[in-house]
Amino acid sequence: MLDETAASALLAAARDAARAAYAPYSGFAVGAAILTADGTIVTGCNVENASYPLTMCGERVAVGSALAAGHRLIRAIALSTPAAPGGTPCGACRQVLNEFAPPDDPMIVVLEGPDGPELVPLSALLPRSFGPRDLKRAGAGEPSSRQEVSDR
Ligand code: THU
Repeated sequence: MLDETAASALLAAARDAARAAYAPYSGFAVGAAILTADGTIVTGCNVENASYPLTMCGERVAVGSALAAGHRLIRAIALSTPAAPGGTPCGACRQVLNEFAPPDDPMIVVLEGPDGPELVPLSALLPRSFGPRDLKRAGAGEPSSRQEVSDR
């Protein structure tokens, strides 16, 4: 689990990251801070676009940065939504986060609670999730005969 000091530090990093948000259309800044397996903190913010649906959520920007830096497991992610503190990750971000959950420990989502950091396991936000394990059970990821044919 995440101790209180680590949760506060992660939330502080998310608050900082929210200041970099590019959100001229919604005015809703989002900052995210990921704690990786080796203790590194990687941040992200939302990046909006004049073509609205191209907007990238802060959480997924942070996930992309963490992966690009070589990290593969996310122990925790903190979220800061200064315009309305306490915001939770959208459904799409929950699904993307689930992909990188540690195999044996719960991923912790740190929210801005009224009295400080509020720790919620991702599994509480995304119950009965679909993830890599489901594909593994189906043998996906192994080269199938169909794939071999279509690759030629
Ligand atoms: N947003 C995020 O960055 N993360 C979420 O989980 C929910 C929504 C952003 C997208 C958009 O820039 C703004 O918040 C309003 O939806």
